[in-house]
Amino acid sequence: CGIVGYIGQNDSKNILLNGLEKLEYRGYDSAGIAVLNEDGVNLTKVKGRIATLKESVDASVHATMGIGHTRWATHGIPSIINAHPHQSTSGRFTIVHNGVIENYQDLKREYLTDVTFLSETDTEVIVHLIEKLYGQYQDTAEAFRQAMNLLKGSYAIGMIDAEDAETLYVSKNKSPLLIGLGEGFNVIASDAMATLKETDQYLEIYDKEIVLVGRNYVEIQKLDGTVVERQPYTAQIDASDIEKGTYPHYMLKEIDEQPIVMRKIINEYQDEHNELKLDEDIRQAMKAADRIYIIAAGTSYHAGLVGKEFIEKLAGIPVEVHVASEFSYNMPLLSEKPLFVFLSQSGETADSRAVLVKIKEMGHPALTMTNVPGSTLSREADYTLHLHAGPEIAVASTKAYTAQIAVLAILAADTAKAKGLELPFDLMKELAIIANAMEVLTDQKEEIEQLARDYLSATRNAFFIGRSTDYNVSLEGALKLKEISYIQAEGFAGGELKHGTIALIEEGTPVIALSTQENVNYSIRGNVQEVVARGANAMIISMKGLEQDDDAFVLPKVHQLLTPLVSVLPLQILAYYAALHRDCDVDKPRNLAKSVTVE
Ligand code: G6P
Repeated sequence: CGIVGYIGQNDSKNILLNGLEKLEYRGYDSAGIAVLNEDGVNLTKVKGRIATLKESVDASVHATMGIGHTRWATHGIPSIINAHPHQSTSGRFTIVHNGVIENYQDLKREYLTDVTFLSETDTEVIVHLIEKLYGQYQDTAEAFRQAMNLLKGSYAIGMIDAEDAETLYVSKNKSPLLIGLGEGFNVIASDAMATLKETDQYLEIYDKEIVLVGRNYVEIQKLDGTVVERQPYTAQIDASDIEKGTYPHYMLKEIDEQPIVMRKIINEYQDEHNELKLDEDIRQAMKAADRIYIIAAGTSYHAGLVGKEFIEKLAGIPVEVHVASEFSYNMPLLSEKPLFVFLSQSGETADSRAVLVKIKEMGHPALTMTNVPGSTLSREADYTLHLHAGPEIAVASTKAYTAQIAVLAILAADTAKAKGLELPFDLMKELAIIANAMEVLTDQKEEIEQLARDYLSATRNAFFIGRSTDYNVSLEGALKLKEISYIQAEGFAGGELKHGTIALIEEGTPVIALSTQENVNYSIRGNVQEVVARGANAMIISMKGLEQDDDAFVLPKVHQLLTPLVSVLPLQILAYYAALHRDCDVDKPRNLAKSVTVE
């Protein structure tokens, strides 16, 4: 979910609505805003997108403070009733919340048995609790503080008190929230992107702090009331980076940006003597580790699988890759000197953060590789490596995946050098070749669109197969297709299909096979024959040098180890067109959010 708030001199409606639009990547199943003026609180909630909210907001209401929310449902279906903001029974207190209150049932039982609840959300408990505590303390800040003391779980909260037009009440634990500072106004936001138009000066808030935000002041307090001083920082995002420009979709723009991102990464990680440039601390941490644990979710997890190969093959350190949400609750036996590498485009994924918190408690070192250097995972780890991919807005990740793979390759190569190991290539030269190859591929969209028509237009399911590193990429190809076209897709190890899953192959089932690795070129082609013999509509995407006559698509040649950086592009483009041909919302697929800040 995403939160935004404003208190200042201007009308707040548009600032809130524009902010929410920028936060839609965090969820978009329902939304709402509440503004406060001399007539009281004016609340608008809708099921659906911010565009719908914009149409529903009463343009005649003028108010200089307010809060807004865009939701990704956790407790309760997407509906107007479950949409935020939520209000207390008297209507005095109104809140927006991102996160999950773990003890909401207990709080309900203990304090709120006499309250009638309207929604199924855990959030409603917070606002009723504040009203109840207000009855006891007769002081809003105190009631707010006492309520925060009772909450267990994750939250970022913004609240308005209908009797106080001078203060926004704010707090957070685990979920991200920033305060933006202006002249005569201040804002709150889950992400600086939401309020960049207003200000580039931001204050971090730490877990369990309470912030009172007025027009001309911001006061940060600890839960015990002690006031905390903190300096603002300048947000380093270029507002034009988050615009679509002439592209019909962010996803297409981000696919096209991949060559630029590769060149940017080459620049950022190379010094004036063309040597790899990495923090000495990170180098030492890698050298000291006897095993690397890569922790990630979704697409980042798939990038981790590719990274494992680099680190093992180039730097000779064993690597395990784990899905964050599993690792937290079922930890494997750890080695003596583990180093944890958190891969996260957003740097906010709650599942990954839960692991980070645990392993820090255990005293292990952590490195975060992220596209958002100021993010929670980046702040809380010992070291950060920046992906330099520029803001990624489309829910389906593309350029962050290839950026992660490239930076993992740099990390592996740097470690190898530091350990005095011979490298099979000049990595930066290879990455430059890859940037050119990516450009060739992004110019071949028409051809790939035709493949989407031929293979994916009338299907309910599809298989992606590969061996060796092509298997890793087929997992990502299947995820891309699922996410945005809703075609049921599975990535599978080519040789494993025959041990069960081949039973699903029917007349016409699309099978997309990757063949970029010389040592498995013949075996994957054998696997393709097996599915063709059972009626599959199969296509082979091969690499120059390994191609055969009827291959559907041939990739430009790049180094064997680095092929995922190019083989994923046609799969991204295939998914894009398959979704487009089905009239799916490419940038905002159903049920998903880009940044999932709940466990
Ligand atoms: C969400 C997104 C995925 C993403 C995953 C991990 O589920 O929908 O596209 O891969 O989170 O996100 P992260 O920001 O940690 O890489």
